[in-house]
Amino acid sequence: MISRRQALRGLIGMFGTAPWLESQDYDNDPVLGPINVFDFRDLARKKLDPMAWDYLDGGSEDEQALRDSREAFKNLIIRPRMLVDTSKIDLSTEVLGAKLDYPIILDPSGGKNCFFKNGEMEVAKGAAAAKALQITNGGIDDLIESGKGPQWWQLTTGGQLQSKQTMRAFVKRLEAQGCQGICFTVDIMHVSHRERDMHNKLERSWCESGLPARDVNGNMPKAKNPWRAGLYPSRPGPLPTWQTLEELRSVTKLPIVVKGIMIAEDADRAVKHGASAIIVSSHGARQLDHVGATIEALPECVKAVNGKIPVLVDGGFRRGTDILKGLALGAKAVCVARPYLYGLAAFGQRGVTRVMQLLQTELALNMGLAGVPNIASIDRSLVRWRHEFKG
Ligand SMILES: Cc1cc2nc3c(=O)[nH]c(=O)nc-3n(C[C@H](O)[C@H](O)[C@H](O)COP(=O)(O)O)c2cc1C
Repeated sequence: MISRRQALRGLIGMFGTAPWLESQDYDNDPVLGPINVFDFRDLARKKLDPMAWDYLDGGSEDEQALRDSREAFKNLIIRPRMLVDTSKIDLSTEVLGAKLDYPIILDPSGGKNCFFKNGEMEVAKGAAAAKALQITNGGIDDLIESGKGPQWWQLTTGGQLQSKQTMRAFVKRLEAQGCQGICFTVDIMHVSHRERDMHNKLERSWCESGLPARDVNGNMPKAKNPWRAGLYPSRPGPLPTWQTLEELRSVTKLPIVVKGIMIAEDADRAVKHGASAIIVSSHGARQLDHVGATIEALPECVKAVNGKIPVLVDGGFRRGTDILKGLALGAKAVCVARPYLYGLAAFGQRGVTRVMQLLQTELALNMGLAGVPNIASIDRSLVRWRHEFKG
Protein backbone atom coordinates (compact mmCIF):
# COMPACT_ATOMS: atom_id res chain seq x y z
CA MET A 1 0.00 0.00 0.00
CA ILE A 2 1.35 3.42 -0.84
CA SER A 3 0.57 6.40 1.40
CA ARG A 4 -1.34 9.44 0.17
CA ARG A 5 1.87 11.40 0.24
CA GLN A 6 3.72 8.83 -1.87
CA ALA A 7 0.82 8.77 -4.31
CA LEU A 8 0.95 12.55 -4.53
CA ARG A 9 4.71 12.47 -5.17
CA GLY A 10 4.02 9.98 -7.98
CA LEU A 11 1.47 12.34 -9.47
CA ILE A 12 3.88 15.24 -9.18
CA GLY A 13 6.49 13.18 -11.03
CA MET A 14 3.95 12.33 -13.72
CA PHE A 15 2.89 15.89 -14.41
CA GLY A 16 6.18 17.62 -13.61
CA THR A 17 4.47 20.01 -11.21
CA ALA A 18 6.30 22.96 -9.62
CA PRO A 19 8.97 21.96 -7.07
CA TRP A 20 7.33 23.81 -4.16
CA LEU A 21 4.69 21.08 -4.04
CA GLU A 22 7.16 18.35 -3.24
CA SER A 23 8.04 19.61 0.22
CA GLN A 24 4.43 20.13 1.20
CA ASP A 25 2.70 18.08 3.86
CA TYR A 26 -0.88 17.77 2.69
CA ASP A 27 -1.93 15.71 5.73
CA ASN A 28 -0.82 18.13 8.43
CA ASP A 29 -0.44 21.61 6.99
CA PRO A 30 -3.74 23.55 7.31
CA VAL A 31 -2.82 26.06 4.60
CA LEU A 32 -3.01 23.20 2.11
CA GLY A 33 -6.59 22.31 3.12
CA PRO A 34 -8.52 24.83 1.01
CA ILE A 35 -8.55 23.78 -2.63
CA ASN A 36 -9.69 27.00 -4.26
CA VAL A 37 -10.29 30.71 -3.65
CA PHE A 38 -13.84 30.06 -2.44
CA ASP A 39 -12.57 27.71 0.29
CA PHE A 40 -10.21 30.47 1.41
CA ARG A 41 -13.15 32.87 1.37
CA ASP A 42 -15.13 30.60 3.73
CA LEU A 43 -12.17 30.35 6.09
CA ALA A 44 -11.59 34.11 6.04
CA ARG A 45 -15.25 34.74 6.89
CA LYS A 46 -15.01 32.35 9.86
CA LYS A 47 -11.79 33.87 11.18
CA LEU A 48 -12.57 37.56 10.82
CA ASP A 49 -14.62 39.86 13.00
CA PRO A 50 -17.90 40.38 11.06
CA MET A 51 -17.11 44.09 10.74
CA ALA A 52 -13.75 43.35 9.09
CA TRP A 53 -15.39 40.72 6.89
CA ASP A 54 -17.96 43.19 5.61
CA TYR A 55 -15.23 45.70 4.84
CA LEU A 56 -13.26 43.08 2.91
CA ASP A 57 -16.02 41.46 0.96
CA GLY A 58 -18.59 44.21 0.48
CA GLY A 59 -19.31 46.58 -2.39
CA SER A 60 -21.09 49.92 -2.62
CA GLU A 61 -24.81 50.81 -2.35
CA ASP A 62 -26.95 48.05 -3.97
CA GLU A 63 -23.87 45.89 -4.63
CA GLN A 64 -25.26 45.35 -8.14
CA ALA A 65 -21.83 45.76 -9.77
CA LEU A 66 -20.42 43.33 -7.21
CA ARG A 67 -22.89 40.62 -8.23
CA ASP A 68 -22.42 41.47 -11.92
CA SER A 69 -18.65 41.08 -11.59
CA ARG A 70 -19.13 37.35 -10.89
CA GLU A 71 -22.26 36.74 -12.98
CA ALA A 72 -20.75 38.14 -16.19
CA PHE A 73 -18.20 35.32 -16.42
CA LYS A 74 -21.10 32.91 -16.99
CA ASN A 75 -21.89 34.67 -20.26
CA LEU A 76 -18.42 34.12 -21.66
CA ILE A 77 -17.74 30.65 -23.00
CA ILE A 78 -14.35 29.05 -23.64
CA ARG A 79 -13.82 27.42 -27.05
CA PRO A 80 -11.27 24.67 -26.29
CA ARG A 81 -8.81 23.42 -28.90
CA MET A 82 -8.07 19.68 -29.03
CA LEU A 83 -4.98 17.69 -30.02
CA VAL A 84 -2.54 20.46 -29.19
CA ASP A 85 0.64 19.36 -27.39
CA THR A 86 0.26 20.91 -23.93
CA SER A 87 2.80 18.69 -22.16
CA LYS A 88 4.67 21.87 -21.17
CA ILE A 89 2.60 24.84 -20.13
CA ASP A 90 4.36 28.19 -19.97
CA LEU A 91 2.62 31.04 -18.14
CA SER A 92 5.53 33.46 -18.27
CA THR A 93 4.98 36.93 -19.65
CA GLU A 94 6.31 40.46 -19.45
CA VAL A 95 4.42 43.59 -18.43
CA LEU A 96 6.14 46.98 -18.78
CA GLY A 97 9.57 45.46 -18.35
CA ALA A 98 8.60 43.29 -15.37
CA LYS A 99 9.19 39.62 -16.10
CA LEU A 100 6.37 37.61 -14.55
CA ASP A 101 6.23 33.83 -14.00
CA TYR A 102 2.47 34.08 -14.53
CA PRO A 103 0.09 36.87 -15.54
CA ILE A 104 -1.52 37.46 -12.14
CA ILE A 105 -0.71 40.59 -10.10
CA LEU A 106 -1.61 41.60 -6.55
CA ASP A 107 -3.83 44.68 -6.60
CA PRO A 108 -3.48 47.48 -4.04
CA SER A 109 -5.71 47.27 -0.99
CA GLY A 110 -6.09 49.44 2.09
CA GLY A 111 -7.19 48.06 5.43
CA LYS A 112 -4.93 45.02 5.55
CA ASN A 113 -4.39 45.45 9.30
CA CYS A 114 -8.08 44.67 9.81
CA PHE A 115 -7.46 41.25 8.29
CA PHE A 116 -4.10 40.29 9.80
CA LYS A 117 -1.46 41.90 12.04
CA ASN A 118 1.16 43.76 9.95
CA GLY A 119 -1.00 43.00 6.95
CA GLU A 120 0.99 44.98 4.39
CA MET A 121 4.23 43.25 5.29
CA GLU A 122 2.58 39.81 5.35
CA VAL A 123 1.18 40.39 1.88
CA ALA A 124 4.53 41.59 0.53
CA LYS A 125 6.32 38.53 1.90
CA GLY A 126 3.58 36.29 0.55
CA ALA A 127 3.81 37.95 -2.86
CA ALA A 128 7.60 37.59 -2.91
CA ALA A 129 7.33 33.87 -2.08
CA ALA A 130 4.75 33.47 -4.85
CA LYS A 131 7.10 35.32 -7.23
CA ALA A 132 4.32 37.77 -8.07
CA LEU A 133 4.32 41.50 -8.68
CA GLN A 134 2.53 43.54 -6.02
CA ILE A 135 0.95 46.97 -6.29
CA THR A 136 1.40 48.39 -2.84
CA ASN A 137 0.15 51.29 -0.74
CA GLY A 138 3.61 51.46 0.89
CA GLY A 139 4.84 50.52 4.35
CA ILE A 140 7.21 47.78 3.17
CA ASP A 141 10.40 49.86 2.89
CA ASP A 142 12.43 47.59 5.20
CA LEU A 143 11.55 44.52 3.19
CA ILE A 144 12.41 46.25 -0.07
CA GLU A 145 15.73 47.43 1.34
CA SER A 146 16.55 43.90 2.51
CA GLY A 147 16.23 42.77 -1.11
CA LYS A 148 13.67 40.13 -0.12
CA GLY A 149 10.62 42.02 -1.30
CA PRO A 150 8.54 41.31 -4.37
CA GLN A 151 8.66 43.23 -7.62
CA TRP A 152 6.42 46.23 -6.94
CA TRP A 153 4.54 49.20 -8.30
CA GLN A 154 3.66 52.03 -5.94
CA LEU A 155 0.05 53.19 -5.61
CA THR A 156 -0.97 56.81 -5.64
CA THR A 157 -4.46 58.24 -5.52
CA GLY A 158 -3.40 61.82 -6.11
CA GLY A 159 -2.15 63.08 -2.72
CA GLN A 160 1.47 63.09 -3.88
CA LEU A 161 0.55 64.63 -7.23
CA GLN A 162 -0.69 68.02 -6.02
CA SER A 163 2.22 70.01 -7.45
CA LYS A 164 5.30 69.40 -9.57
CA GLN A 165 7.44 69.64 -6.42
CA THR A 166 5.51 66.96 -4.53
CA MET A 167 5.44 64.81 -7.67
CA ARG A 168 9.19 65.13 -8.12
CA ALA A 169 9.90 64.21 -4.49
CA PHE A 170 7.55 61.23 -4.79
CA VAL A 171 9.09 59.81 -7.97
CA LYS A 172 12.65 60.47 -6.78
CA ARG A 173 12.04 58.32 -3.72
CA LEU A 174 10.44 55.55 -5.79
CA GLU A 175 13.22 55.54 -8.36
CA ALA A 176 15.85 55.31 -5.59
CA GLN A 177 14.00 52.39 -4.01
CA GLY A 178 13.89 50.36 -7.22
CA CYS A 179 10.14 50.69 -7.70
CA GLN A 180 9.16 49.41 -11.14
CA GLY A 181 6.09 51.50 -11.78
CA ILE A 182 3.48 53.92 -10.48
CA CYS A 183 -0.16 52.90 -10.29
CA PHE A 184 -2.45 55.94 -10.36
CA THR A 185 -5.93 55.04 -9.14
CA VAL A 186 -8.41 57.44 -10.72
CA ASP A 187 -11.76 56.14 -9.46
CA ILE A 188 -11.54 57.12 -5.78
CA MET A 189 -11.88 60.89 -5.91
CA HIS A 190 -14.91 60.58 -3.61
CA VAL A 191 -15.56 57.73 -1.22
CA SER A 192 -18.70 55.77 -2.01
CA HIS A 193 -21.33 54.53 0.40
CA ARG A 194 -20.32 51.06 1.48
CA GLU A 195 -23.57 50.46 3.24
CA ARG A 196 -22.54 47.34 5.15
CA ASP A 197 -19.79 49.40 6.79
CA MET A 198 -22.19 52.27 7.43
CA HIS A 199 -24.70 49.97 9.13
CA ASN A 200 -21.83 48.48 11.15
CA LYS A 201 -20.80 52.01 12.21
CA LEU A 202 -17.26 51.34 11.05
CA GLU A 203 -14.78 54.10 11.71
CA ARG A 204 -12.78 54.41 8.48
CA SER A 205 -9.49 55.02 10.32
CA TRP A 206 -9.87 51.55 11.88
CA CYS A 207 -9.24 50.10 8.44
CA GLU A 208 -5.68 51.40 8.67
CA SER A 209 -4.99 50.79 12.36
CA GLY A 210 -6.87 47.48 12.66
CA LEU A 211 -10.17 47.04 14.51
CA PRO A 212 -10.20 47.88 18.23
CA ALA A 213 -10.89 44.97 20.59
CA ARG A 214 -14.53 44.23 21.42
CA ASP A 215 -15.59 44.40 25.09
CA VAL A 216 -16.78 41.34 27.08
CA ASN A 217 -20.28 41.75 25.66
CA GLY A 218 -18.92 41.72 22.12
CA ASN A 219 -19.46 45.45 21.51
CA MET A 220 -17.09 47.67 19.59
CA PRO A 221 -16.09 51.00 21.15
CA LYS A 222 -18.29 53.79 19.80
CA ALA A 223 -16.82 55.18 16.57
CA LYS A 224 -15.84 58.86 16.91
CA ASN A 225 -16.31 59.48 13.23
CA PRO A 226 -18.45 56.72 11.70
CA TRP A 227 -19.12 56.44 7.97
CA ARG A 228 -22.34 58.45 7.54
CA ALA A 229 -24.96 59.06 4.86
CA GLY A 230 -26.51 62.43 4.03
CA LEU A 231 -23.27 64.37 3.73
CA TYR A 232 -22.88 66.46 0.57
CA PRO A 233 -19.69 65.34 -1.27
CA SER A 234 -16.93 67.89 -1.41
CA ARG A 235 -13.14 67.89 -1.25
CA PRO A 236 -10.98 70.71 0.07
CA GLY A 237 -8.87 71.27 -3.07
CA PRO A 238 -9.08 70.62 -6.81
CA LEU A 239 -8.91 66.97 -7.79
CA PRO A 240 -6.51 65.37 -10.30
CA THR A 241 -7.35 65.60 -14.01
CA TRP A 242 -5.83 64.28 -17.25
CA GLN A 243 -3.45 67.25 -16.98
CA THR A 244 -2.12 65.74 -13.72
CA LEU A 245 -1.29 62.53 -15.59
CA GLU A 246 0.61 64.53 -18.21
CA GLU A 247 2.57 66.35 -15.51
CA LEU A 248 3.43 63.10 -13.78
CA ARG A 249 4.54 61.71 -17.14
CA SER A 250 6.88 64.68 -17.59
CA VAL A 251 8.72 64.15 -14.27
CA THR A 252 9.53 60.43 -14.44
CA LYS A 253 10.58 57.66 -16.76
CA LEU A 254 8.84 55.07 -14.57
CA PRO A 255 5.85 53.40 -16.21
CA ILE A 256 2.53 54.92 -15.12
CA VAL A 257 -0.40 52.53 -14.86
CA VAL A 258 -3.80 54.21 -14.74
CA LYS A 259 -6.21 52.11 -12.66
CA GLY A 260 -9.96 52.50 -12.79
CA ILE A 261 -10.80 52.90 -16.50
CA MET A 262 -14.22 51.56 -17.56
CA ILE A 263 -14.97 53.16 -20.96
CA ALA A 264 -13.32 53.34 -24.38
CA GLU A 265 -13.17 57.16 -24.38
CA ASP A 266 -11.11 57.20 -21.17
CA ALA A 267 -8.88 54.37 -22.43
CA ASP A 268 -8.13 56.55 -25.45
CA ARG A 269 -7.51 59.64 -23.25
CA ALA A 270 -5.18 57.63 -21.03
CA VAL A 271 -3.04 56.74 -24.06
CA LYS A 272 -3.03 60.36 -25.28
CA HIS A 273 -2.05 61.79 -21.89
CA GLY A 274 0.90 59.48 -21.36
CA ALA A 275 -0.28 56.35 -19.52
CA SER A 276 2.04 53.35 -19.96
CA ALA A 277 -0.81 50.91 -19.25
CA ILE A 278 -4.37 50.92 -17.96
CA ILE A 279 -6.20 48.66 -15.56
CA VAL A 280 -9.85 48.20 -16.47
CA SER A 281 -11.28 48.27 -12.97
CA SER A 282 -14.29 49.35 -10.94
CA HIS A 283 -12.33 49.27 -7.67
CA GLY A 284 -13.77 45.84 -6.89
CA ALA A 285 -17.32 47.25 -7.23
CA ARG A 286 -16.56 49.40 -4.19
CA GLN A 287 -16.98 52.85 -5.80
CA LEU A 288 -19.69 53.81 -8.34
CA ASP A 289 -22.35 51.07 -8.38
CA HIS A 290 -24.28 49.91 -11.49
CA VAL A 291 -21.27 50.05 -13.79
CA GLY A 292 -21.57 46.42 -14.88
CA ALA A 293 -18.70 43.96 -14.81
CA THR A 294 -15.15 44.81 -15.79
CA ILE A 295 -14.99 41.73 -18.04
CA GLU A 296 -17.82 43.41 -20.02
CA ALA A 297 -15.96 46.74 -20.14
CA LEU A 298 -12.68 45.13 -21.19
CA PRO A 299 -13.36 44.64 -24.95
CA GLU A 300 -14.21 48.30 -25.66
CA CYS A 301 -11.12 49.46 -23.75
CA VAL A 302 -8.87 46.97 -25.57
CA LYS A 303 -10.30 48.15 -28.87
CA ALA A 304 -9.78 51.83 -28.04
CA VAL A 305 -6.18 51.29 -26.95
CA ASN A 306 -5.54 49.39 -30.17
CA GLY A 307 -2.33 47.72 -28.97
CA LYS A 308 -0.56 51.00 -28.11
CA ILE A 309 -0.17 50.17 -24.41
CA PRO A 310 -0.94 47.05 -22.33
CA VAL A 311 -4.42 46.69 -20.88
CA LEU A 312 -4.84 44.92 -17.53
CA VAL A 313 -8.08 44.07 -15.77
CA ASP A 314 -9.38 43.28 -12.28
CA GLY A 315 -12.68 42.64 -10.53
CA GLY A 316 -14.21 39.31 -9.53
CA PHE A 317 -11.50 37.02 -10.89
CA ARG A 318 -11.60 33.90 -8.71
CA ARG A 319 -10.84 31.01 -11.07
CA GLY A 320 -8.22 30.02 -13.61
CA THR A 321 -11.01 30.05 -16.18
CA ASP A 322 -11.89 33.66 -15.28
CA ILE A 323 -8.28 34.67 -15.84
CA LEU A 324 -8.12 32.74 -19.09
CA LYS A 325 -11.22 34.63 -20.29
CA GLY A 326 -9.65 37.99 -19.36
CA LEU A 327 -6.49 37.12 -21.30
CA ALA A 328 -8.55 35.95 -24.27
CA LEU A 329 -10.35 39.30 -24.38
CA GLY A 330 -7.01 41.06 -24.64
CA ALA A 331 -5.78 41.65 -21.09
CA LYS A 332 -2.01 41.41 -20.71
CA ALA A 333 -2.44 40.36 -17.05
CA VAL A 334 -5.18 40.06 -14.45
CA CYS A 335 -5.01 41.66 -11.00
CA VAL A 336 -6.72 40.34 -7.87
CA ALA A 337 -7.39 41.79 -4.42
CA ARG A 338 -10.00 39.89 -2.40
CA PRO A 339 -8.54 36.46 -3.27
CA TYR A 340 -5.18 37.18 -1.63
CA LEU A 341 -6.92 39.06 1.19
CA TYR A 342 -8.90 35.88 1.95
CA GLY A 343 -5.55 34.06 2.10
CA LEU A 344 -4.13 36.78 4.33
CA ALA A 345 -7.08 36.67 6.73
CA ALA A 346 -6.98 32.88 6.93
CA PHE A 347 -3.22 32.27 7.31
CA GLY A 348 -1.15 35.45 6.91
CA GLN A 349 1.66 35.44 4.37
CA ARG A 350 1.46 31.69 3.66
CA GLY A 351 -2.21 32.08 2.80
CA VAL A 352 -1.35 34.87 0.35
CA THR A 353 1.27 32.69 -1.32
CA ARG A 354 -1.02 29.69 -1.45
CA VAL A 355 -3.89 31.61 -3.05
CA MET A 356 -1.54 32.90 -5.74
CA GLN A 357 -0.20 29.38 -6.33
CA LEU A 358 -3.72 27.98 -6.58
CA LEU A 359 -4.71 30.62 -9.13
CA GLN A 360 -1.48 30.05 -11.05
CA THR A 361 -1.87 26.29 -11.21
CA GLU A 362 -5.60 26.48 -11.98
CA LEU A 363 -4.82 28.80 -14.89
CA ALA A 364 -2.09 26.44 -16.13
CA LEU A 365 -4.42 23.45 -15.88
CA ASN A 366 -7.21 25.25 -17.71
CA MET A 367 -4.75 26.32 -20.42
CA GLY A 368 -3.67 22.70 -20.75
CA LEU A 369 -7.29 21.59 -21.08
CA ALA A 370 -8.12 24.38 -23.55
CA GLY A 371 -5.19 23.62 -25.86
CA VAL A 372 -3.23 26.83 -25.27
CA PRO A 373 0.25 25.94 -23.95
CA ASN A 374 1.52 29.50 -23.60
CA ILE A 375 0.26 33.05 -23.23
CA ALA A 376 0.99 33.93 -26.87
CA SER A 377 -1.45 31.24 -28.06
CA ILE A 378 -4.37 32.81 -26.16
CA ASP A 379 -6.43 35.10 -28.38
CA ARG A 380 -9.96 36.37 -28.90
CA SER A 381 -11.02 33.19 -30.73
CA LEU A 382 -10.64 31.24 -27.48
CA VAL A 383 -13.92 32.69 -26.15
CA ARG A 384 -17.35 33.66 -27.34
CA TRP A 385 -20.20 35.45 -25.62
CA ARG A 386 -23.11 33.12 -24.98
CA HIS A 387 -25.28 34.99 -27.49
CA GLU A 388 -22.50 35.12 -30.12
CA PHE A 389 -22.91 32.51 -32.88
CA LYS A 390 -19.70 30.96 -34.20
CA GLY A 391 -20.57 29.33 -37.49
C1 LIG B 1 -10.40 45.69 1.16
C2 LIG B 1 -10.07 46.37 -0.13
C3 LIG B 1 -9.36 47.57 -0.11
C4 LIG B 1 -9.03 48.20 -1.32
N1 LIG B 1 -8.28 49.35 -1.28
C5 LIG B 1 -7.86 49.91 -2.45
C6 LIG B 1 -7.01 51.04 -2.45
O1 LIG B 1 -6.62 51.54 -1.40
N2 LIG B 1 -6.64 51.56 -3.65
C7 LIG B 1 -7.05 51.03 -4.84
O2 LIG B 1 -6.69 51.52 -5.91
N3 LIG B 1 -7.87 49.96 -4.87
C8 LIG B 1 -8.27 49.39 -3.71
N4 LIG B 1 -9.10 48.30 -3.74
C9 LIG B 1 -9.57 47.79 -5.04
C10 LIG B 1 -8.62 46.74 -5.59
O3 LIG B 1 -7.35 47.27 -5.87
C11 LIG B 1 -9.16 46.10 -6.87
O4 LIG B 1 -9.42 47.09 -7.84
C12 LIG B 1 -10.43 45.25 -6.69
O5 LIG B 1 -10.66 44.88 -5.36
C13 LIG B 1 -10.31 44.01 -7.57
O6 LIG B 1 -11.41 43.18 -7.43
P1 LIG B 1 -11.38 41.82 -6.57
O7 LIG B 1 -11.26 42.23 -5.13
O8 LIG B 1 -12.69 41.20 -6.89
O9 LIG B 1 -10.19 41.01 -7.04
C14 LIG B 1 -9.43 47.64 -2.55
C15 LIG B 1 -10.15 46.45 -2.55
C16 LIG B 1 -10.47 45.81 -1.38
C17 LIG B 1 -11.23 44.52 -1.42
